Amino acid sequence: MKEIKRIALLTSGGDAPGMNSAVRAVVFSAMKAGIEVVGVYRGYEGLIDWETKVLTLDDVRNINNQGGTILFTSRSERFLNKKYREIAAQNLRENNIDAVVAVGGDGTLRGAVEFRKEGVNYILIPGTIDRDVACTEYTLGFDTAANTAMEAIDRIRDSSVSHGRCSVVEVMGRKRGYIALWAGMGTSADAIVLPEKWDGSYDNITDAIKRRHADGRNSYLVVVAEGVTDAQALADTIREKTGIESRVSVLGYIQRGGQPSAKDRMYASLMGAYSIEILLQGRQNRIVAIKNDRLIDYDIEEAININNNQLDSFQYELSLMLQE
Ligand code: F6P
Repeated sequence: MKEIKRIALLTSGGDAPGMNSAVRAVVFSAMKAGIEVVGVYRGYEGLIDWETKVLTLDDVRNINNQGGTILFTSRSERFLNKKYREIAAQNLRENNIDAVVAVGGDGTLRGAVEFRKEGVNYILIPGTIDRDVACTEYTLGFDTAANTAMEAIDRIRDSSVSHGRCSVVEVMGRKRGYIALWAGMGTSADAIVLPEKWDGSYDNITDAIKRRHADGRNSYLVVVAEGVTDAQALADTIREKTGIESRVSVLGYIQRGGQPSAKDRMYASLMGAYSIEILLQGRQNRIVAIKNDRLIDYDIEEAININNNQLDSFQYELSLMLQE
């Protein structure tokens, strides 16, 4: 078993609240075990250009409360190309790096699977607000993002109620509806439009609003996950079919920023420490995951083949009942 003396640490893909706590826990745990941590800036881009700094405890001591990532991040087009992955692997060899620890989402995992072919030992911590890494029940940043979306929607609702309007609010999530489901249920939305459940028709939404309008209600809230449908087209249809003035708000990057919640700081710290534990046990190419609220890990190749694009069915059914 090769002793781990030096690791590279990076964050990749969309930044997520909690990434800094993961970085902090990796550095603390590694240094305690006598492992040097080389921080790589801008994710895979920094691996290719070897933009790095040896991290000290002072670099990471007080970063738990910071949003974003102190290591910066990127969506690297170049890393999709084998030529650049080879350059990155060569950089790692030349700098005596025994393993890479990365914090990132689905795209980062796909990159990891390819990178492993260059002989790199790769440990991934799932960090993305979308909660779209199928092998884990939790990804860092989701809790903070869902809370940020919920608080923003609460404010939008105040205005919507005052004016007697329908607010259509678009939230992030890429192909997953968890932010929409949690923020929508938390704000008593009248309809939540989810990628996993979308049937392509606005009829259910407009019919429900008409029914409630007939019962005397005068303001409505529809939460829609990005990419499912055009939020403006939905608002226009609601106005045409119900006569109710409808306005769109796209929450956008506000959902990715801000101070991480206690849950994100705690889970990030646990996952960061666990990633070093995996390396100390001599295991290779793993992704850290949460199952039944416990830390586990999967082989990254196995993880990529896990298909779980369903929402929690109890949460979903409950959200429907609560829309009545
Ligand atoms: O990080 C996840 C995410 O915020 C998705 O919800 C969204 O679709 C995407 O990233 C936006 O990516 P970018 O920062 O590249 O615009």
